[in-house]
Amino acid sequence: MTAPGKDHNAELQAAAKRNLWLHFTRMSSYSDNDIPVIVRGSGQYVYDQHGKRYLDGLSGLFVSQIGHGRKEVAEAGARQGSELAYFPLWSYAHPRAIELAERLADLAPGNLNRVFFTTSGSEAVEAAWKLAKQYFKTVGEPGRYKVISRDIAYHGTSMGALAITGLAGIKAPFEPLPAGGIRVPNTNFYRAPGFVAGDLEGFGRWAADEIERAILREGPDTVAAVFLEPLQNSGGCFPPPPGYFGRVREICDRYGVLLVSDEVICAFGRLGYYFGSQRYGYQPDIITFAKGVTSGYSPLGGMLVSDRLMEPFATGPASFLHGVTFAGHPVSCAVALANLDVFEKEDLLGNVRANEAGFRGTLQKLTDLPIVGDVRGDGYFYGIELVKDKSTRETFSDNESERLLRGYLSQALFDAGLVCRADDRGDPVIQLAPPLTCTQEHFDEIEQILRSVLTEAWTRL
Ligand SMILES: Cc1ncc(COP(=O)(O)O)c(C=O)c1O
Repeated sequence: MTAPGKDHNAELQAAAKRNLWLHFTRMSSYSDNDIPVIVRGSGQYVYDQHGKRYLDGLSGLFVSQIGHGRKEVAEAGARQGSELAYFPLWSYAHPRAIELAERLADLAPGNLNRVFFTTSGSEAVEAAWKLAKQYFKTVGEPGRYKVISRDIAYHGTSMGALAITGLAGIKAPFEPLPAGGIRVPNTNFYRAPGFVAGDLEGFGRWAADEIERAILREGPDTVAAVFLEPLQNSGGCFPPPPGYFGRVREICDRYGVLLVSDEVICAFGRLGYYFGSQRYGYQPDIITFAKGVTSGYSPLGGMLVSDRLMEPFATGPASFLHGVTFAGHPVSCAVALANLDVFEKEDLLGNVRANEAGFRGTLQKLTDLPIVGDVRGDGYFYGIELVKDKSTRETFSDNESERLLRGYLSQALFDAGLVCRADDRGDPVIQLAPPLTCTQEHFDEIEQILRSVLTEAWTRL
């Protein structure tokens, strides 16, 4: 493939600076630097406008499960576009949405066999909260509207989803948000409170019981749902302690509260199973999904719910009063079906399960560096927590964190050819979620880049 000319690149760069607004991005940081422009992808790698190659260690944004450049998936979308590019799911169905709903219902745990499509993860979360509220109003429990979620957890950016999100910094500019978002502790064992430090199961019991205490404090007849990711992303990959979800399920059942598993990241193989709840062995009432369902070849999200939640809407005049124009878009559904075909043909779940120990072991080698405090995660989803002092687990000041992450690490990792995420929404972490096709050679490449950049970062502190 011929590289675009110098003039074309310069024009693209100038137009990007003039007209494009990047998400969650300090645009000022590009006043003196080029905006990175990614022009194509192939397998586990992406390429910028100069032809430079990067290992996509974050699958774009936890999206590209099957990797880049899969013609069969792109072509499935193109075929669908010529057959029926668009028709709404408002009062009508189309074949690809039906086939995909049936396929997802087959793959989902237990009795989750009804699919409500959206176009994104935030919309899926929004839809799940709205369904919980309308469901309870319909069955005669109108006081239930609150939602419990965990500190630092990210559940999306639309107003409802933001009220569930547990990151104070990204909520503050938009307050007041819809009422009813309640926070409980997350499952960051590395930072567990002293009375359960070193006792993983005790920590899990305590963290689950905090949900019960929150329900009792708020009043059980006011709480509609608990929203939890199987493995919490924000804060740097907190796996659930053993027994945690079993206990949360019991608590939800005791108080008639719905358990929503927000699997926008954790579904579709990220943890070696189609759904993260299957990995950790719990049965949600609702699963929200997006991202990996299409591997990003077209946008799609949705929620899977049990027949019980559908029941009040299955007969009589009631309908779920919610919808968005592009939800379950025919092209996206066709792409999702082709994406799932790749999962099956190439046994991607098997690949993750066979190689996850290698991924973990390779990243754990980095714990010999003074700056690496903790390596945690499961499947192909890991966080590396950076610390100032390993023995005391002292973290960086805001100033140091700013200098370290924004001033050095993010750019240095990218310059060294690795797309990953250096994040300080909790304590500073580096996050990795590579395509599910990765094998040991990719883990080694990730480790080598991290080792050299983190070694250099330590000398700059
Ligand atoms: C757990 C979780 N929920 C919801 C969302 C929001 O998804 P989207 O960005 O597609 O709106 C995200 C996005 O990363 C997420 O990680």
